[in-house]
Amino acid sequence: MEYKKLISNRKSVRDYKKTALKKEHIKELKNYANTSKRLINDIEVETLIMGNEVFENLNGKAGYKGFMLDAPNYVILLSEKKDSYIINAGYIGEEIVLKALDMQIGSCWITFNDSNLIKNNLGINSDKEVVAIIALGYDDNKTKIINIPTIGANESKTKISRVADNISERLGVEDIVYLNKWGCSATADDLENRALLDAFHYARLAPSTLNRQPWRFILDDGMVVLAVRNDEHTGTYEEEIDAGIVMLYFEAIVDVTLTDVTWILESPQKDYNIPEEYVVVGYCNI
Ligand SMILES: Cc1cc2nc3c(=O)[nH]c(=O)nc-3n(C[C@H](O)[C@H](O)[C@H](O)COP(=O)(O)O)c2cc1C
Repeated sequence: MEYKKLISNRKSVRDYKKTALKKEHIKELKNYANTSKRLINDIEVETLIMGNEVFENLNGKAGYKGFMLDAPNYVILLSEKKDSYIINAGYIGEEIVLKALDMQIGSCWITFNDSNLIKNNLGINSDKEVVAIIALGYDDNKTKIINIPTIGANESKTKISRVADNISERLGVEDIVYLNKWGCSATADDLENRALLDAFHYARLAPSTLNRQPWRFILDDGMVVLAVRNDEHTGTYEEEIDAGIVMLYFEAIVDVTLTDVTWILESPQKDYNIPEEYVVVGYCNI
């Protein structure tokens, strides 16, 4: 897949045509999901692609403040429960998102907080846990409106803010990448000299819950350390999915521009004085 092109063109699609995905597209997506690269190889994952009944059964129960997106199809990702399985799900789910886009199929992650409730409402009988819900369908380009509740605001469902532009904003690389220690911003030149500017440029385009862009990187010699922020309005689930997605973006671009990368999902043996609202998710050696 052409990751740079796909990442540049990806956006969350919230208004879908009624047309269901073609059977052969569903087959191709499932096949891709079953064989695509994993962050952690020994976690069993299963991909279901369901129809619009998901909307009827989960409306009010999943999505920002229960605001479920009405799409013709949905990916339901199930996973074995093992260390870092949610981060792994973020990585795999976003591989599916990019593959779908490659097939001109739009998508949007949908948040939720209770796997059993989802399984019961969708009639899924499995020992595995629901780790991702992703709406799928053809973009109905009619409207340019997104529904994102203001971060931290205590609004009712009916007061979800509507932004009349579907291009979401992003922080700059200098806001998310630090050199050697926390808070010491890396410049574009610093990153260019290390052949990492592209990788961070694309990483910052990753989707995240409520577009909170919680990721910060510390570049320390040949090591890249990833920390993500805990926010009071997001849970561990969203933080870990957001981390898995950005790991995929960074890795996919470094793989094509520089070298193969393997994320190690633990904290390096060094104290970077990271503020307490951030947690180190992992690091990789470049
Ligand atoms: C884990 C996760 C959960 C999300 N949940 C929802 C959701 O429930 N409803 C929604 O409309 N968007 C949801 N989004 C989409 C984000 O709001 C979106 O990615 C972000 O605002 C950036 O916009 P973009 O994807 O168009 O670049 C979610 C994204 C992630 C990564």
